[in-house]
Amino acid sequence: MTQSLMAEIRAHAPAYVKNTRLIDWVSRMAALTGAKAVHWCDGSDDEYDRLCQQLVDAGTFKRLNPVKRPNSFLACSDPSDVARVEDRTFICSQDKQDAGPTNNWMEPAEMRALLQTGENALFKGAMKGRTLYVIPFSMGPLGSPISHIGVELSDSPYVVVNMKRMTRMGRAVVDHLGTDGDFVPCMHTVGAPLDEGQRDVAWPCNAVKYIVHYPETQEIWSFGSGYGGNALLGKKCLALRIASTMGRDQGWLAEHMLILGVTTPAGRKYHVAAAFPSACGKTNFAMLIPPPSLGNWRVTTIGDDIAWIKPGRDGRLYAINPEAGYFGVAPGTNFETNPNCMRSLERDVIFTNVALTDDGDVWWEGMGPAPQHAIDWQGKDWTPALAKETGAKAAHPNARFTVSATNNPALDPAWDDAAGVPIDAFIFGGRRSTTVPLVTEARNWMEGIYMGATLGSETTAAAVGQQGVVRRDPFAMLPFCGYNMGDYFQHWLDMEHRLQEHASALPKIFCVNWFRKGPDGKFIWPGYGDNARVLKWMIERLEGTAEGEGHFFGISPRYEDLDWNGLDFSPEQFAGIIDADATSWKAELKLHDALFDLLAPRMPSVLKATRQAIEASLTD
Ligand code: GTP
Ligand code: SPV
Ligand code: MN
Repeated sequence: MTQSLMAEIRAHAPAYVKNTRLIDWVSRMAALTGAKAVHWCDGSDDEYDRLCQQLVDAGTFKRLNPVKRPNSFLACSDPSDVARVEDRTFICSQDKQDAGPTNNWMEPAEMRALLQTGENALFKGAMKGRTLYVIPFSMGPLGSPISHIGVELSDSPYVVVNMKRMTRMGRAVVDHLGTDGDFVPCMHTVGAPLDEGQRDVAWPCNAVKYIVHYPETQEIWSFGSGYGGNALLGKKCLALRIASTMGRDQGWLAEHMLILGVTTPAGRKYHVAAAFPSACGKTNFAMLIPPPSLGNWRVTTIGDDIAWIKPGRDGRLYAINPEAGYFGVAPGTNFETNPNCMRSLERDVIFTNVALTDDGDVWWEGMGPAPQHAIDWQGKDWTPALAKETGAKAAHPNARFTVSATNNPALDPAWDDAAGVPIDAFIFGGRRSTTVPLVTEARNWMEGIYMGATLGSETTAAAVGQQGVVRRDPFAMLPFCGYNMGDYFQHWLDMEHRLQEHASALPKIFCVNWFRKGPDGKFIWPGYGDNARVLKWMIERLEGTAEGEGHFFGISPRYEDLDWNGLDFSPEQFAGIIDADATSWKAELKLHDALFDLLAPRMPSVLKATRQAIEASLTD
């Protein structure tokens, strides 16, 4: 049976598929999963349109009003499948220590038995009654030496159309693979086989979920979820978890960072990469429009979520965005907070878990005036009165849009450049209602790495679990680092020596916090476009034209060091977001200790020494 099926798939693969390993793998996976058909995605617009219509017919998609939102769709997921599942995400390295204490781990052989080889292995027959889609994609410009190719096999047409927007996807990738090109195999099923005659549901998924990575053999196996980072395997699974291990082995960095270009009024251009945890403002910052009152500053987007960063021959670090689209948080996005984003969403968008208005458009909390009536993300009637009474949300807090980067009016001309852009500064920032100042500059590389390593943030709806509790999220990579976090810190520390010959080319490092709250529980800092005031200070620090004041863990601006033109923000208000008081920092250092203790024995001792130095200067 298996033999003949393999032969059949070989015979039915399009003539342009020449890669033996790919054909063999697809054949074996079709046999394992019992898929009823195999569809090789060519990535054409025509294929996209046909699959979207198929999703409409199946009830997964609603086509939005073509006048208000041309060529756009709304998908509403199963209420149990709305975000990444960190507690179901595994790094299956041979040695448990290589996954480290911040990752879930299982012995590879044991996991393989569970997923593939055991008697009741989850992938066995998992695609029964469904079509297996072969989705070839390139992370980074196709053919570039810094890009990596993946092939996702999925039984979800929703995944196919999202991958079309998020990556360079289709036949050109297979052509590029030739007969023996290399790719990362990414196996995905929603885990909902269909019996003969069984009716499908609008959002098939399984209560059991596994998001599994084998770093040594560079494989991804995802079972049971159709949502976001659980299912679009090029993103977190390949471009962060697997790529971070490639970076460790090859001397580069795969980071949860936006990349932006910033042009000064004098016409000088800089590039900044910033790591903020999930749903903490990367998309907003990457598309920032500086207030005109600051003068002619301009921000352009290279990427909004992931950066691959490599040392160049000149000793500088060069960054590319491996993605080709944005899978961004909808709630809170509006024409005031992020006009470039709103313009990106005017057409050709896939919305997931937002509300449907009576005129066939979309709405979410924080978009603008609420409609009198809408259908919420779970298909129920929603009115502002109901929301007031019960707190019912029209959109899920982790509702997202999927859109091509080329929709973004602020897209940087170099966004697609295989050479990448030279990084002048790194920023680390978390969501902290207390303790952490608006902005602090590290005085050296080590101090900056300490800021990244000890980053803390209040948890958000981007992951399933308790929300709003502070947790350490080192480099915003806690859920995405594919290896031991202590080794990862060492890898960042080693970058200084790699670039040492060109010490002047080392990026400056800053840490920011847009999220300090007052006693009334409201954000003190206006944020969004006004974050440009902080960005301006950073760039002027690079240029050596702005002042600041040193304190126990870096340099922060005084009130008079920031440009307040066009904003009514008092020195008292500023004091409430820039102070770093000794009592809260003593408590904060205890939290750093807890992380460092967790990471012992692989915790670099130099970071512990930095911690002691901070404590000493605190007590002075
Ligand atoms: P992922 O895609 O999950 O990695 O997240 P992201 O970092 O790209 O998050 P995004 O930019 O989409 O921001 C998500 C949330 O942060 C939204 O609710 C925004 O309204 C809020 N946000 C972004 N920037 C700011 C800011 O400057 N101040 C405040 N208070 N909220 C902000
Ligand atoms: C994140 O959670 O950081 C995201 C969204 O960017 S997802 O792709 O679902 O992981
Ligand atoms: Mn992200």
